[in-house]
Amino acid sequence: MNFPDYRPRRLRANENLRRMIRETSLSVDDFIYPLFVAPGEGFKKEISSMPGNYQMSVEFIVEEAKEVRDLGIPAVILFGIPESKDEAGSGAYDDDGIVQQAIRAIKKEVPNLIVVTDVCLCEFTSHGHCGIVREGEILNDITLELLAKMAVSHADAGADMVAPSDMMDGRVSAIRAGLDANRYDNIPIMAYSAKQASAFYGPFREAAESTPQFGDRKSYQMDAANSLEALRETALDIEEGADIVMVKPALSCLDLIYMIKKEFGYPTAAYNVSGEFSMVKAAAEKGWIDEKKVALEILTGIKRAGADIIITYHAKDAANWL
Ligand code: PBG
Repeated sequence: MNFPDYRPRRLRANENLRRMIRETSLSVDDFIYPLFVAPGEGFKKEISSMPGNYQMSVEFIVEEAKEVRDLGIPAVILFGIPESKDEAGSGAYDDDGIVQQAIRAIKKEVPNLIVVTDVCLCEFTSHGHCGIVREGEILNDITLELLAKMAVSHADAGADMVAPSDMMDGRVSAIRAGLDANRYDNIPIMAYSAKQASAFYGPFREAAESTPQFGDRKSYQMDAANSLEALRETALDIEEGADIVMVKPALSCLDLIYMIKKEFGYPTAAYNVSGEFSMVKAAAEKGWIDEKKVALEILTGIKRAGADIIITYHAKDAANWL
């Protein structure tokens, strides 16, 4: 049908009409809220490039977890800043490590909140890379054992789901095998499948103190220019046992979210990363944009592209706004 018979504006005349034909609706059910746990007691420090987000010691993390639950957000994803770092990232798979302590504390006080853990060595290695380094090279296969150990120690502490973000080849099957061998066959894996070597992670690296001390992550994270490779990466993760696949970042990768959801029909997560959040915050602080409207528009766009799950630093704000 053509104009004048078809007039799209007829259904835009007022908010009730618009609500009736709205195709995408955002819900708190969609969100995962990231938390950064740090050692010590009574410690809470704002991340300067991510206003409203903090590095927090365990007791504050528990308070935050309660707030997240009370807002109706179903899950958090945990990142850790360890007391000390070493070449092997041993704090990552220490049963008394900072993330393991936080998992136990949250599960004790807020048992119904889903605790997802980021499985990656970069926050725990002195060199800041996501794998073991030898002579300047990031080694793949040796790293896999450590990632599996890390995932099992998270599960031992009570984690509900693990999310490998390291981008080593074969990590999903290594982690699946490690979990299964320890009778954690019911713990799902949310794999960062199409994770790009992105400049949008800058503020996160301040938050997690995980900036690589030499070089960059381009030998393991994906080239942002590639979409067919993103499909292959995702296919591999699914074959290896991923239960949920993820695209990261989100805003510059809406095409990948769409393609991956369509191609595989798997539960699809998108990480609305730190830099995406910080840009909105900074522009809003300058009075250049309306934070609430822009953030909700971005999150709706990510969902419309096909994301079932959105990891976002705007989760608490969005829950309040919705
Ligand atoms: C760990 C990890 C990173 C992010 C999530 N997990 C940083 C990186 O890969 O350098 C980034 C999240 C964000 O920017 O919000 N590998």
